[in-house]
Amino acid sequence: MKINFLTLFPNYFEIFKQESIIAKAIEKGIIEINIVDIRDFSKNKHKKVDDQIYGGGHGMLLQIEPIDLALKTVGGKKIIMSPQGSVFTQKKARELSNEKEITIIAGRYEGFDERIIDYLIDEEISIGDYVLTGGELPAMIIADSIIRLVKGVIKEESHLNDSFENDLLDYPQYTRPRDYKGMLVPEVLFSGHHKKIEEWKKEKQLEKTKKNRPDILERIKNAK
Ligand SMILES: C[S@@+](CC[C@H](N)C(=O)[O-])C[C@H]1O[C@@H](n2cnc3c(N)ncnc32)[C@H](O)[C@@H]1O
Repeated sequence: MKINFLTLFPNYFEIFKQESIIAKAIEKGIIEINIVDIRDFSKNKHKKVDDQIYGGGHGMLLQIEPIDLALKTVGGKKIIMSPQGSVFTQKKARELSNEKEITIIAGRYEGFDERIIDYLIDEEISIGDYVLTGGELPAMIIADSIIRLVKGVIKEESHLNDSFENDLLDYPQYTRPRDYKGMLVPEVLFSGHHKKIEEWKKEKQLEKTKKNRPDILERIKNAK
């Protein structure tokens, strides 16, 4: 899978490419990352890519032309990062992990000239109901969650039970030591009783989802 990032701050993506699972996926040839500097497509002699907002309004907006020209150099589904987009989910990550190529555009300033959204892209995605200074972190967040689902990047068993994969949150997990200053790992996990352990995991998943994300249980109930 090829992922193109369109950005005004290419350096943000350098570490992303160079570390851990993503670096390994690139090395194995499963993932290709292409970073495109939007300023390279500015026709302005100072490489300016933003301008004032028509009708008044605070701040500056990203102009359509440099983004239009930059998009001509890349392919695949075109996604813009914006707090006004549909909120990203694990389901969307799975859907996008089946694409051969995607392009993610990171905004800055007050965002984008709306014609970019109306005419040039396929999807507007948000990472949640809060506003960041730029789209680089959101772009890396969605790319990371997509990449780990691409076949061959991590073992499939590692993400089949992840939170949201079966609607519910993941169950609690423990590692050595069994007793840390009196804080004990639940006894059932040492019982060797497979069925009992599975039942315990399911119960804990429900418990945690009920406590932290009752909205998920409500959604499941309403879908029935
Ligand atoms: C300061 S924000 C612009 C906010 C815009 N004026 C609004 O209220 O919708 C600048 C850029 O950061 C990115 N961004 C900020 N918050 C985001 C979020 N929750 N999800 C995705 N992208 C976000 C977008 O690319 C956005 O164009």
